[in-house]
Parts: sequence; C-alpha cells; structure tokens
Amino acid sequence: MGDVTVNSNVSRDGFTTKWGIIAAAAGSAIGLGNIWKFPYITGIHGGSAFIIVYLVCIVAIGLPIMLSELLIGRRTQKGVIGSFKKLAPKSSWFLIGYMGLAAAFMILAFYGVVAGWTVDYTVKALTGEFTGKSAEQLEGMFDGFIGSTAMPIFWQVIFMGITGLIVVAGIKNGIEKYTKILMPILLVILVMLCVRSVTLPGAGAGLAFLLEPDFSKLSAEGVIAALGHAFFSLSLGMGTLLTYGSYVRKDNNLGNTAVNITFADTFIALLAGVAIFPAVFAFGIEPGAGPGLVFITLPNVFMQMPLGSFFAIAFFVLLAIAALTSSISILEVVTTYLCEQSRISRVKATIIAIIAITALGIPCSLSFGAMSEFKLFDKNFFELLDYISANILLPLGGMLIALFVGWKLKRKDLEDELTNGGSIQAAWLSTFMILVRVVAPVSIAFVFLHGLGLIKL
Ligand code: TRP
Repeated sequence: MGDVTVNSNVSRDGFTTKWGIIAAAAGSAIGLGNIWKFPYITGIHGGSAFIIVYLVCIVAIGLPIMLSELLIGRRTQKGVIGSFKKLAPKSSWFLIGYMGLAAAFMILAFYGVVAGWTVDYTVKALTGEFTGKSAEQLEGMFDGFIGSTAMPIFWQVIFMGITGLIVVAGIKNGIEKYTKILMPILLVILVMLCVRSVTLPGAGAGLAFLLEPDFSKLSAEGVIAALGHAFFSLSLGMGTLLTYGSYVRKDNNLGNTAVNITFADTFIALLAGVAIFPAVFAFGIEPGAGPGLVFITLPNVFMQMPLGSFFAIAFFVLLAIAALTSSISILEVVTTYLCEQSRISRVKATIIAIIAITALGIPCSLSFGAMSEFKLFDKNFFELLDYISANILLPLGGMLIALFVGWKLKRKDLEDELTNGGSIQAAWLSTFMILVRVVAPVSIAFVFLHGLGLIKL
C-alpha cells in the first residue's frame, strides 16, 4: 500500500494542489516557534527593533535557503540522504542528510513535550481551571505541572500518537488533507484573538511596543537570536522543506511557493504578537516574561477579560494545532528517509520513528522534574537537545545547503528546476545566487560561531 507509492518513483505519493503544498509547508513553518517563542523573545529583546532585524533575516537568508531546500527536494524526488547522493554522487554532501535526521530526532523529542503541554492546557482551559487563580497561583500551576512525571508524559505520548496517525496516512491523504483543514481554523482563531486584544482599553501601549522601534534596546544577542529564530520558525536547515519539496509537482512555481510560505509564517508570527502584547499591556503585565509568557501570563490576562474562558480555550486550541502541523513535518523527514533507505512500509517506518522519538522525549519532559538534577554543560536534557539542534545542527545544515546550491549544484540543473524547464521566468536568479553563495553562508557562519561561544559580541 503506502510503501509501494513511496518506494517507486512511478507513482510516488505527493501534494495534489498548489494550495495543498502551501498549507502543508506553512503548517510546518507556523508552530510553537511563532506563537510561543516569537512573542516571548520579542518581549525579551525589546520589541519592534528586534522584529525589524528578524524581518531582514527572513528575507535575505531564510527565503533563499527555503527555496534551496524546495529545489533540491523536487529535483531529486528523494529524502534528506537520497537527494544529496543523487545530485553529488561519491561525495560527502549526503552527511548533511544525517545531520538533518539527527536534528529531526532531537527537535521532535522536545517539541513533542511542549506540544503535550498545549494539549494539557487546552483541557485545563475547557474545565475552567484558570478561573479565580492569582498570577502566583497560575505560575505555581505551570511549574507544578511541568515538574510532575505522569501527566506531561501522558499528553506527550497522546500528541505523538496523533502526529503518527496523520503521517501514516501519507502525503495526499494525511498531511495535505489535514493541514488544509487545520490551517484556516488556525487563522480564524488567531484573527479573533487579535480583534479581542486590540479592542481592550489600554491596548495602544502594546501596539506601540510592536510598532515603534527603539534600537537602543537591541543588543548583539538580539541580532543573533533573530537569525537563529528565522531558521527555526521557517523550519529550515534540517531538510523539512527538502522532504516536502520532493512531493511537489513539477509544474509548481517554486519561487512563488517559497515566497508564500515565508510570507504566511511571518504574517502569523506578527499576528501572534498583535494577539498577545496589547492584551498583556492592557492589564499592566511585564512583556518580557520569557518561556512562561503563554502558559502563565496569558491565562492571567484571559481571566481578567470579559469572555476570558472562551478566549483561553481558543488560544490553547490554536497552539495545539500549530504544534501538530509542525510536528508532522518533522516526522515526515524521518519516515521518508526510512521508507526510502530500508524499503520498509510507511506504517512500520512511522511507528519505529514515533517510538524512538517519543522515548527520547521522555527524559526531556523529566528534565523539569525528576531529572532536573541531571546536567551536562550546565544544561538539562531538554535544553541540551534544544541547544544542539537549534544552535548547531540547524545553522550548520542551513549553511551547507546554501553552499551546496550556490557552489556545487550545476547551474543548468538549478535554472532548469527554478524555471520549470524554461517555461516560467525567474528574473531574480542572480540575486538568489548572491544570497546563497555569499550572504547566507557568511551570516550563518557568524551566528554559528557565536552560538558555540567561539566569538563574543
Ligand atoms: N517551524 C516550526 C515552528 O515554528 C518548528 C519546526 C518544524 C522546525 N519543522 C522544523 C524547526 C524543522 C526547525 C527545523 O514551531
């Protein structure tokens, strides 16, 4: 069944429509990164000046690398390892693929834990558990929950199971089908939350925080964080979009697709900011609350506003949907690889991947409680996987992908793939070449060395 379609290129599974690939890829990009992480790091790094730097990183570095991944994938119709082996046989470029697989394991391990929290918080919102709680009690509730053993793991396992069920069903009947339904729901909920937030009395201060740049608040750390986050948010550097690209139809305009995905991801991150900061400011709460912003600060904000319980439910459903459409894209990298390399069925490949990744996620979950004493390089297990993947593997992978497309891939192959064999225009080709050859690798090298602590600003 599934294995036949994946293993033979004659009838390889794939996205059926232009909107399907955009929904799936935007679903991958739009995730906890946009709604949980982007608002709190924007808060920490001082607001709109940080956002401006982030936008520059997105356009100059994120977009060209996204297009690079899509183009490699579609050219070869293969996963993260197979594609490099096909384009550059007898070379070591395929090692990028192994780095990507390692990153996929690590990211999904800890991502699944936070995703599990979002499901638990959806249930808490539904059963009215925030009602009547003070800010301190809400903080105690969050710390108590993530520090416990059974419940976070329970929700993590449930979440990973749902992720697996969608991926098992394939690209067309699983990923495309569900993301096409879930992404519009996400947008509707988010727009509704934005309207609620900006119409609160005192919301203006939150909008000013987002819109009036104060560059004096921006540090070198902030610039580095902006580029690092551009990678994470666009799902770049580990072959997610390469894998999705391998399922894109040959008549798709890849340049347009990359622009649409990038635009959607950035737009949603900004909307998340608009949904969150005006509300936070309206109730006089500190914006730089850190990772607890959406789990502690927001329930507090919701409980103070009219119809707050309803908006709390909507918000956590939104967060869970965002997490789900991203998780499936990470899992697909591993599933595609296993199917291709070992010729096992899609079902078996997915089950193996889910079990291994969930197992790796358990110590991540426990690192807020039972295993909090375990530290390596001063980081707990969760932080360690986050650090190795986001600060090392993704930037390195992204840099190598840019270098591969810029310097190794034959110009003829590249042009052919970007113009669909000459049938569409790609007037921006020379700009793209400068970005992938020089701008992206050099900027990433910079962030990479900084992330490793080898250079300090
Ligand atoms: N981009 C997603 C988010 O913003 C997470 C994600 C999905 C991801 N696939 C990825 C991050 C690949 C890095 C690499 O939450």
